[in-house]
Amino acid sequence: MDLCFLDKLKDQPFYLLPLLILGSLTALKFSFALLQWVYVNFLRQGKNLKKYGSWAVVTGATDGIGKGFAFQLARKGINLVIVGRNPDKLKEVSDSITAKYGKVEVKTVVVDFSGDIDSGVTRIKETIEGLDVGVLINNVGVSYPYARFFHEVDAELLRNLIKVNVEGTTKVTQAVLPVMLKRKKGAIVNIGSGAAIVIPSDPLYAVYAATKAYIDQFSRCLYVEYKKSGIDVQCQVLPSSNSRTWNFRDLSFARCIVHIAQV
Ligand SMILES: NC(=O)c1ccc[n+]([C@@H]2O[C@H](COP(=O)([O-])OP(=O)(O)OC[C@H]3O[C@@H](n4cnc5c(N)ncnc54)[C@H](OP(=O)(O)O)[C@@H]3O)[C@@H](O)[C@H]2O)c1
Repeated sequence: MDLCFLDKLKDQPFYLLPLLILGSLTALKFSFALLQWVYVNFLRQGKNLKKYGSWAVVTGATDGIGKGFAFQLARKGINLVIVGRNPDKLKEVSDSITAKYGKVEVKTVVVDFSGDIDSGVTRIKETIEGLDVGVLINNVGVSYPYARFFHEVDAELLRNLIKVNVEGTTKVTQAVLPVMLKRKKGAIVNIGSGAAIVIPSDPLYAVYAATKAYIDQFSRCLYVEYKKSGIDVQCQVLPSSNSRTWNFRDLSFARCIVHIAQV
């Protein structure tokens, strides 16, 4: 059978063999990448996040994905510093977490990332002083209320997109990193978006997509900068969904995100 195949090959044009080898190698590479993707997303055991430290900071933890992260981290026994702009919602989330996961400690910090970020970041620094913060979830982010052409994006929306998505994430990271550097371990998970990475362009959401492209590249650079210091950095690329209509506390999807986020 083998001989038959080789004999047939000899009769073919000379360029067929290199093409066959190239095709087989490409198919092999694709199969390997697919298997690796299945393994990483569905089969790989999650890391013990407590090895990074016993505290996590989650921004935008009062709703949607950030709230889901907070509950899932608490479920794993990690104490939380939850950051949000609404004191009542922060209290409500904190109370629900402590009611459900009694042993977990929760601290709250009020920061409006569309307001005075510097004083908010100072409050985060003061709150985490002396805590072994091992995990930072940079989740806070805003998008357009509806699709618009770039020239129709008003000054307030433009300002908020850049302040919350870019400046907020950057400054919170800079505030928490020294704590991780001191202890030579940590995990930073930045929430990106498919709008910047998966699709080639996201017309009518240009500024949102551009801020998430910043988050992606920021994460890649920090990953390389701090790898040798024991700090893992990753950007989670999420598809579009209305997270508020989903109950991220109970959805296994939220668990899945936390699982994937285990760098
Ligand atoms: N859902 C999606 O389809 C999707 C897709 C890709 C990426 N993402 C990214 O995932 C992250 C979370 O999205 P989400 O859908 O869960 O959003 P969400 O449901 O709107 O929740 C956002 C959270 O951020 C808080 N927040 C908003 N503006 C703030 C500000 N100025 N200062 C402080 N906190 C503020 C909100 O607080 P309040 O509770 O006070 O409103 C809430 O806790 C974002 O970075 C988003 O870009 C989402």
